[in-house]
Amino acid sequence: MDTKVTSSEHYGSQFDLDIGELVEPNRIHRRVITDPDVFELEMDRIFGRSWIYVGHESQIPQRGDYFTTQVGRQPVVMTRHENGQIYVLENRCPHKGALVCPDRNGNAKRFMCMYHGWRFDGDGSLVSVPVHSGYDETGFDARDPKNGMRQLPRIHNHKGFIFASLTADGPDFDSWAGEGLRGLNNVIDRAPTGELEVVGDCYRTIQNNNWKIFVDNMSDGMHTSFVHHQMARAAQHTLEKFKGQARPGGLDVAAQLAGEPDQMAKVDLVAHPHGHFDMAAFAPDLQGADAELYRTSIVARHGEERANAVLERNFHNVLMFPTIIMQASLQQMRVIRPLSVDKTMLEIWVFRFKGVPESFSRRAVMAGNFANSPSNVVAADDFEAYFRVHAGLKGPQSEWISLHREANRDLPVGASLRGLTGNSEVCMRNMYKAWRDYMTAK
Ligand code: FES
Ligand SMILES: [Fe+2]
Repeated sequence: MDTKVTSSEHYGSQFDLDIGELVEPNRIHRRVITDPDVFELEMDRIFGRSWIYVGHESQIPQRGDYFTTQVGRQPVVMTRHENGQIYVLENRCPHKGALVCPDRNGNAKRFMCMYHGWRFDGDGSLVSVPVHSGYDETGFDARDPKNGMRQLPRIHNHKGFIFASLTADGPDFDSWAGEGLRGLNNVIDRAPTGELEVVGDCYRTIQNNNWKIFVDNMSDGMHTSFVHHQMARAAQHTLEKFKGQARPGGLDVAAQLAGEPDQMAKVDLVAHPHGHFDMAAFAPDLQGADAELYRTSIVARHGEERANAVLERNFHNVLMFPTIIMQASLQQMRVIRPLSVDKTMLEIWVFRFKGVPESFSRRAVMAGNFANSPSNVVAADDFEAYFRVHAGLKGPQSEWISLHREANRDLPVGASLRGLTGNSEVCMRNMYKAWRDYMTAK
């Protein structure tokens, strides 16, 4: 596929445009957000090639467990085979293409396609085909285990977090992730035994906007003083009732969103190669006797100095482009599953650290309910802003979206860039530069 895109938007003046011309250092063209053809190309060149997060190994602890999701457009099933290994398979029968696993998750010794009864092992191997003699001398070997459900060409297990790629070629996981991994690693370092597990199933929400509007927002310190002002004032009043006591998870963070823009300027934003970034901000809201117990167990694992480093840098939002937003200190992860150019599904997962007081897991679940669930009181206001951005960009008359805030003031840190202040749009500029690289790569 070449990089010329003919717009399918019918606003009178159709034009061809090189995809690379849609992104400039400090602005992007509205078609990056609204054009269905650009979205299709993203499914091919970003979600169809890059490392995409699939799931966590604790979702499939027992042999025979499975979990279904998507890698880009491709339905997949992550399995724990009878041999204990994890596989990521195309959730597609090799006969006529039916979804083999229609459920979100479950346990099965073998998979059987409901259409004509072909059966498969947990690694996708073909086990049996009913009346297989019908395939004799046809050029299709119904007895060959290799003719089963296909494994994705590349899979990588990063300390329990499973990523996969739909292509065999491309950067290996470590060179792609680079410094972008530090936020994901931080949540693992916060577990006293280094072991995490998901709490239950995920929440799923759907936004009526392009997926990148959501990702932009994750590094947008400026918006909080406006979008979240009313919610944050209410959170501040509620906090007063908890003076000297353990507070519900997420409440301290929510209360700080009422700050003036110069308060958000203190937020530390660092953008990394390949589109990743992290934002460190907001005082940790660990309180009370359990917090002391927890701290002691982290010191026992890492030593005093390293424990301080792990707990001090409070990763509020961490993006591993394009699928994961991790909130390390709140033990939350949001996973981006784009559905169409103007519909985006989020999976919201909460993690439990093994070996910590149960109140910690309750705090994490509370934070998830409060800030990320379908009935949350924080992101509901964001969703309205995202919807308005997408709706406004449908108008064809004005073509460009500004990313100018604090441009030309970014501070290099190794291969990464730090924003001059937390109000900088450095992470957005960096992300769209990477987006252009992904989209124009041959
Ligand atoms: S489509 Fe699966 S067995 Fe026929
Ligand atoms: Fe927000």
